[in-house]
Amino acid sequence: MLESYISSILAEKLSLSKEEISSLLEIPPNPGLGDLAFPVFSLAKIERKAPHLIAKEVAEKMTGGPVRAVATGGYVNFFFDRSFFAVKALEEAMKPDFGKEDLGKGKRVIIDMSSPNIAKPFGIGHLRSTMIGNALYHAYKALGYDAVRVNHLGDWGTQFGKQIVAYKRWGDEVKIAQNPIKSYLELYVRFHEEAENNPELEEEARAWFKKLEDGDEEARSLWQRFIQESLKEFKRMYERLHVDFDYYMGESFYNDKMDAVVRELREKGLLEESEGAQVVSLDDRDMPPCIILKSDGSTIYATRDLATAIYRHDVLKGDLLLYVVGAEQSLHFKQVFAVLEKMGREWAKVCIHVPFGLMRFAGKKMSTRKGRVVFLEEVLDEAVERAREIIEEKNPSLPDKERVAEAVGIGAIIFGDLKNNRIHEVDFSLEEALNFDGETGPYVQYTYARTQSVLEKAGEVPTGITEGKSLTRDVAWELLKEILGFPKALKLTVERNEPSVLARYLLNLAKVYNRFYHQERILSEEEEERKVKLALTQITGRILKESLEILGLQTPSKI
Ligand code: ARG
Repeated sequence: MLESYISSILAEKLSLSKEEISSLLEIPPNPGLGDLAFPVFSLAKIERKAPHLIAKEVAEKMTGGPVRAVATGGYVNFFFDRSFFAVKALEEAMKPDFGKEDLGKGKRVIIDMSSPNIAKPFGIGHLRSTMIGNALYHAYKALGYDAVRVNHLGDWGTQFGKQIVAYKRWGDEVKIAQNPIKSYLELYVRFHEEAENNPELEEEARAWFKKLEDGDEEARSLWQRFIQESLKEFKRMYERLHVDFDYYMGESFYNDKMDAVVRELREKGLLEESEGAQVVSLDDRDMPPCIILKSDGSTIYATRDLATAIYRHDVLKGDLLLYVVGAEQSLHFKQVFAVLEKMGREWAKVCIHVPFGLMRFAGKKMSTRKGRVVFLEEVLDEAVERAREIIEEKNPSLPDKERVAEAVGIGAIIFGDLKNNRIHEVDFSLEEALNFDGETGPYVQYTYARTQSVLEKAGEVPTGITEGKSLTRDVAWELLKEILGFPKALKLTVERNEPSVLARYLLNLAKVYNRFYHQERILSEEEEERKVKLALTQITGRILKESLEILGLQTPSKI
């Protein structure tokens, strides 16, 4: 609101549009420098004048209104007349749809997320994809998009030939029944170990994959079984994370859709032979060629992704196709999108890879081939167990302790991931993520619970605010400004496909609210003042709850 007020006025006076101005406005590093700052450097470039002169001119144009403008170097700093703006701003923030917009109305965004591999453990990378994808899903929805979550399961490929051979040779039903994914992984590892000395195994595996492709009954039913058992495990995880999908459409879903892609590539003269394989050359884009058919004629991951993108655009009618997949697959997606472009699919530009960095748990990373993995469920269990211990120590009489421990433990992991710029590598420390006084999920969850207990104690709903004197005091004014930043945080989250924007915003909001809580007596004797403070508390609580839910955290009202 403050921002749009300033950008409207400046747009009338300067040669920049309201949107341009709004994206340039900054929040000064400390409140003494003003409520908002406008850097004039880009304007100075256009007008070919020294920044400090331009800043002075702009400040002079603003005299007389309810905003004081002060030129400082290359910035114009704005100080709002608090009593003029406070009540209006509070009223705006109290509207139930505050922060929601219909920017995305009529637009469908398809989010490829999670996408673990059958008969392999659900890895930390899949966890990151699940949580980032889930957060983006909710953020897009909050802005009016029609968002669709797709789980692109890795349920096809030559590795299933190996899996079948290993199972048939060494499979132990008792072990499999106890822990199917772990046993399949062990079998897969054993396959690679034994194949080193016994190359026939590879031959055998190829033959079984061929059988699977040709619809052989035994091969199909083993494959089905791997899928069912894996899905059962994955779904247990999704339930704990409270994540749903609109579609489970794995790679095998595209088996009957790839011929058309290969045919089209051939007709358009894009296929060429290279070392026996059929590839699309990407020399003109400084990329290695995209392999479409291996020398034995079988399709690969990239072929399936071509068919997938075309399906999502043509059949699912996606206007925007996001792929939330680790940064190690960046080249793969660049190649796939480039091939789509060469095929004449103009919409290739709406395909966006949303990469993220590696996450390590206490220094360990993942490698399924060698069997050195961290099993995610163990990580979740440990987080919940530690949350339980903390709650037991801090608040032993809390009702519903189990549920709260689950919400806090899992919330710690999700937030510990999402608060980082997604492209950064994360060295995850459970200790840190669970610190109730740190920059953590539990800290934000706890702050939300605090707002609820204040409101419960007050026992009244703040309405009809007419007097904003108490809002002009520093800490209340700071809180109000932070609240007003919510719509922008949500918009930037979507614009950049970056949940950390929202997570960091929440940390700031929680910090300012806690300062307000400690410095001000919220349940003041004075009625108008109490109403205002309860209103701030209520809005803060609502934003914390809505945003935590967007990020995928639960919000117990007592902790
Ligand atoms: N299953 C793949 C993996 O675990 C991720 C799939 C991502 N989605 C896609 N359309 N390629 O590496």
